[in-house]
Amino acid sequence: MSDELSGKVALVTGAARGIGQASAIRTARAGANVVVSDILEEEGGQVVEMIKEAGGAATFVRADLSHEEEISGLINKITSDLHRLDGAFNNAGVLQHGKSLHELATEEWEKVINIDLTGVFLCMKYEIMAMLDRGVGGAIVNTASALGQVAITGASEYIAAKHGVLGITRAAAAEYGAKGIRVNAILPGIVETVARQTG
Ligand SMILES: NC(=O)c1ccc[n+]([C@@H]2O[C@H](COP(=O)([O-])OP(=O)(O)OC[C@H]3O[C@@H](n4cnc5c(N)ncnc54)[C@H](O)[C@@H]3O)[C@@H](O)[C@H]2O)c1
Repeated sequence: MSDELSGKVALVTGAARGIGQASAIRTARAGANVVVSDILEEEGGQVVEMIKEAGGAATFVRADLSHEEEISGLINKITSDLHRLDGAFNNAGVLQHGKSLHELATEEWEKVINIDLTGVFLCMKYEIMAMLDRGVGGAIVNTASALGQVAITGASEYIAAKHGVLGITRAAAAEYGAKGIRVNAILPGIVETVARQTG
């Protein structure tokens, strides 16, 4: 445990497993009170227990990021229960269907765009509203991908979404930097998570 982020409240989405879980644990170890959010309640609850057993502070809030009202509800719950939001890691995401573009059904395209891109937009929208309301700035990190910059075959919907995440990250950084809200993205390469093993 360190006190680097002591007194701060940080949200991590997609925190029940994989990259989000590791980030939630690391953020709590740095002293932040972490809001672990995911659709997977049982696994999310276990992450909270792991954090508490290590002496950290965390709570689980279930939110399906494909629904705007669940995202606004998540941020409202954080600001009403914990009275602040200092940082957010918009990390939840799903992988591509592995099909060529001409074989991809509209519903498959929409699923990935909805969670991986629109979900990030809506999380940022409500997080930024909360940060502007409080007036002391904050930090947002979005999970893009190496595929936010380059392309492979069989992943057009994912590549489009992750290129979009980089675009909206740059747009928000330009728009809110002067107001003290830093917005950045990470572009992981291959990480051996459940999604990677089964996707
Ligand atoms: N694993 C990799 O190699 C890799 C590489 C580059 C980028 N990424 C990105 O990293 C992020 C995390 O990926 P991961 O590999 O840890 O995957 P993962 O599947 O292990 O974790 C993703 C989490 O997001 C959650 N999630 C999915 N849909 C959701 C929704 N609608 N609402 C709320 N939560 C939802 C899942 O339940 C899961 O816990 C994703 O955005 C992914 O695109 C992963």
